[in-house]
Amino acid sequence: MMSSATYLSRRGELLTYFDRTAADAWARLTSDAPVSGIRATVRAGRDRMRNILLGCVPDDLRGARLLDAGCGTGALSVEAARRGAHVVAIDLSPTLVNLARERMPRDLGGGRIDFHVGDMMDAGLGEFDYVVAMDSLIHYKAPDMARVVAAFAARAHAGIAFTFAPRTPLLSVMHGVGRLFPRGDRAPAIEPVGKANISRRLVAELSPAGWSIGKSERVASGFYTSHALELVRR
Ligand SMILES: C[S@@+](CC[C@H](N)C(=O)[O-])C[C@H]1O[C@@H](n2cnc3c(N)ncnc32)[C@H](O)[C@@H]1O
Repeated sequence: MMSSATYLSRRGELLTYFDRTAADAWARLTSDAPVSGIRATVRAGRDRMRNILLGCVPDDLRGARLLDAGCGTGALSVEAARRGAHVVAIDLSPTLVNLARERMPRDLGGGRIDFHVGDMMDAGLGEFDYVVAMDSLIHYKAPDMARVVAAFAARAHAGIAFTFAPRTPLLSVMHGVGRLFPRGDRAPAIEPVGKANISRRLVAELSPAGWSIGKSERVASGFYTSHALELVRR
């Protein structure tokens, strides 16, 4: 599947941002180290979101292959492996993947995790029962997001769960405020998308192949707002 120019340029910005600009902040946010006020609410929101996404896959994942697309420091991969999955975890950032490797507990029960540095669209990663992408598509515009999810669908047998940044008035304001910061310090823009918009694109593209929309749940916690959407194959 061809990647668009907008996808490739955003991917380059995300690599710089997550591998360098924000790598330390991200390492801290995803650790047990104390964080103050607003970051604590973001961490709590992200913990809730991870549980929601993990609620879209079976409790018993023995024998299943799961792609953690944009794994960051690997928290979701560890939980899936503890349920018995063979997890393939991939992220653009070598720094975050190294950290994920370091943080991986020695005992994963019956599961395992293979970490990779690269693009989650890479067809060479093989086929999966489940694909999960937590907050790794939120920086891509709706058409690119839909293309990535369609690429997942072409390689997934049973289910996909991903998050998007919902279009809310508050987020639009924060988005505007973010643009006041110097260019070099700010994160690549989050691309809010309406649930109806992304659902319509996915249903149009994927329902002929037997996919339909499953669970849908939003988390809003401090400055963290994210919406989980599940696709299931019947
Ligand atoms: C907001 S972080 C979330 C990380 C992790 N899923 C979590 O929830 O802790 C987004 C991650 O997606 C990764 N990412 C973005 N685009 C990607 C792509 N095309 N292929 C692989 N990883 C990607 C980034 O490098 C970053 O680590």
